[in-house]
Amino acid sequence: MPRRICVIEGDGIGQEVIPAAVEVLRATGVDLAFASAEAGFDCFLRRGVALPAETLALAKECAATLFGATQSPSGKVEGYRSPILELRRELDLYANLRPTRSLPIAASRPGIDLLIVRENTECLYVRRERSDGETAVAERIITRRASARIMRTACELARGRRRRVTIVHKANVLVETDGLFRRAALEAAREFPDVTVDELLVDTAAMRLVQAPEAFDVLVTTNLFGDILSDEAAGLVGGLGLAASANVGEGRGLFEPVHGSAPDIAGRGVANPLAAILAGALLLDFLGERETAERVHAAVWSTLADGPRTPDLGGNASTADVTRAVVERL
Ligand code: NAI
Ligand code: MG
Repeated sequence: MPRRICVIEGDGIGQEVIPAAVEVLRATGVDLAFASAEAGFDCFLRRGVALPAETLALAKECAATLFGATQSPSGKVEGYRSPILELRRELDLYANLRPTRSLPIAASRPGIDLLIVRENTECLYVRRERSDGETAVAERIITRRASARIMRTACELARGRRRRVTIVHKANVLVETDGLFRRAALEAAREFPDVTVDELLVDTAAMRLVQAPEAFDVLVTTNLFGDILSDEAAGLVGGLGLAASANVGEGRGLFEPVHGSAPDIAGRGVANPLAAILAGALLLDFLGERETAERVHAAVWSTLADGPRTPDLGGNASTADVTRAVVERL
């Protein structure tokens, strides 16, 4: 029986780069069955709902989901809720994984192979804010359960890598919240005696990331710090156009390029498909197809090295040209 993959293209260039990623996944020969579903702002305008119930049901029932990007309306639109945030919550995708590896382009530094494991459910992103106009307050929620859970994910992933985890926090100032995160993480680390664990304050971590990124293996941190550090890390290897991320929970995973719907270039067939294709590689890895995932990564690597390249990387190739080049190298 083929494993079923829920495919949500979404808006804008999601509709161009996700078909490219599916084409590459098909070319790997792994036995997968693809089922499409809608979500996003286009869908909201047509149907009055950004994440239809059948899309959510399909994502729950499939082995994994491949997600493109959705467009957010500028300004508040009554009834519109971000589908990606809802999917992450409904599927309980509590870990956001952002791997960063050097790529053969001038904009990438060499020697980097790190993974940021970001807690995806709490911290300041619970969005409990209030204001009386003069003073604004945001609640930051940190629980022992979520902190231990994300640390276990980080340690398990480190076992498939160089077995080093750096806990990133600001417990010297945020004594209660990051103090709890740090203690819970260190405690969970005892279950992994084969993994070397150290810790860094987030400001120091931010500096080390630009000074000596090759020294890191796995970094684990809370939601806001992880959001910032993972974009910083992406900047070290060529920026958001080539970055992919995984959102995982117990037995569930959603894989996406980090970029958005890029309305400025949508519909022209020139979007760079490589971030979406790398998201496909993360999906294969999640399904236990690690060797095939590496093959896809290698095909992306050699396509970047020799061309063709899309305009964002200084070339003049189309999405289809680059996709074909990746498929040929597979
Ligand atoms: P964006 O990532 O869509 O675009 C930023 C810039 O990078 C644009 O100039 C775009 O043309 C370029 N770019 C992005 N991906 C590219 C690719 N694959 N190939 C070539 N060029 C690429 O971010 P922006 O403009 O801030 O947001 C546009 C829309 O996307 C907004 O509605 C935003 O809310 C949404 N968005 C959705 C995300 C998601 O669904 N996960 C993530 C980020 C933004
Ligand atoms: Mg971000």
